[in-house]
Amino acid sequence: MKRLKTIGWSDSKECVRLIDQTLLPEEIRYIYADNLDAMYHAIKVLQVRGAPAIGIAAAYGLYLGVRDFGGDEGDITAFLNYADERAAYLSTARPTAVNLFWAINRIKKFTHDNSAGAGDVNTLKKLMLDEAHRILDEDRKMCRAIGERGFELLKDKPCILTHCNAGGLATSEFGTALAPIYVGQEKGVTFKVFADETRPLLQGARITALELSEAGIPVTVICDNMSAAVMATGQVKACIVGADRIAANGDTANKIGTYGLALIAAAHNVPFYVAAPSSTFDLSIPDGTKIPIEERGREEVAFWGEKKTVPDKAEVFNPSFDVTPSKLITAIITEKGVIKPPYTENIVKILG
Ligand code: MRU
Repeated sequence: MKRLKTIGWSDSKECVRLIDQTLLPEEIRYIYADNLDAMYHAIKVLQVRGAPAIGIAAAYGLYLGVRDFGGDEGDITAFLNYADERAAYLSTARPTAVNLFWAINRIKKFTHDNSAGAGDVNTLKKLMLDEAHRILDEDRKMCRAIGERGFELLKDKPCILTHCNAGGLATSEFGTALAPIYVGQEKGVTFKVFADETRPLLQGARITALELSEAGIPVTVICDNMSAAVMATGQVKACIVGADRIAANGDTANKIGTYGLALIAAAHNVPFYVAAPSSTFDLSIPDGTKIPIEERGREEVAFWGEKKTVPDKAEVFNPSFDVTPSKLITAIITEKGVIKPPYTENIVKILG
């Protein structure tokens, strides 16, 4: 079984190694981000994508951003100001996945909290890199825990449908929505997976289908507009998706099309699960109406590769995410436990 690692630190090159996800599935090419601008660009153009992977990339990105601090070694205050400026810039890379802000804020707070003890700028930089390594390592553990918990919910549901890519390529290693499938594989339980292609950037077809098929898991790609017909056949026993940001009441932002899928699942009495680590919750936001939704460029919708598919005079609307109201979500699987309605109370109870 081959598992692709989308993000990691290269000790020999002293920079971050990423799989360029824009080239999948045709080519697995590694790119090396050795400065903040390279990492900003990689996040913006989706060379690295998926909420947890974006968080890890941001943590390393902020370290890369301060590595070039040119000021006085002993001037910790100037260094902290520089780090804050770099953090503010990196925060504008993408708006919806809260993991970006979660990771930046964690590194920022860590840097401020450790500034006095570190004594000099170089020591503080090294501590920041260690903290980024910890974020990656914790993500690995969180995804495995999600996989174990999710497997218990899904083990009697041998055929599932997923949207976008919330697998290993969207995280440190194991994925969120796909983690129960990988845990099942380790335990000798094979799931059959339907993967929505996920217009317009085809993360389901290009990325989910790639990682599952490479791992030897049966996967069937369908166009987004086929999921109702497939669910009507009765084959699909559960839907499971990832999340980019979960509000305090459980409303969940995820890749555009997730909301429609949740409505279709409800119409067919198919349970609809969200799998996400605690770093994807934003309890400062009361409900989904307040989640910022990224709008991306016209060209993603108006072209099929090189071919123009929309006339120039027609408008294009391209929101990259939608919000699934929590009433359509059967349960949210986190590393700390499975959260069931009523979400407002139970999210706080389980996440602590
Ligand atoms: O635009 P993308 O590809 O970054 O969107 C990714 C998703 O919507 C994923 O489902 C989500 O981030 C969860 S990844 C574990």
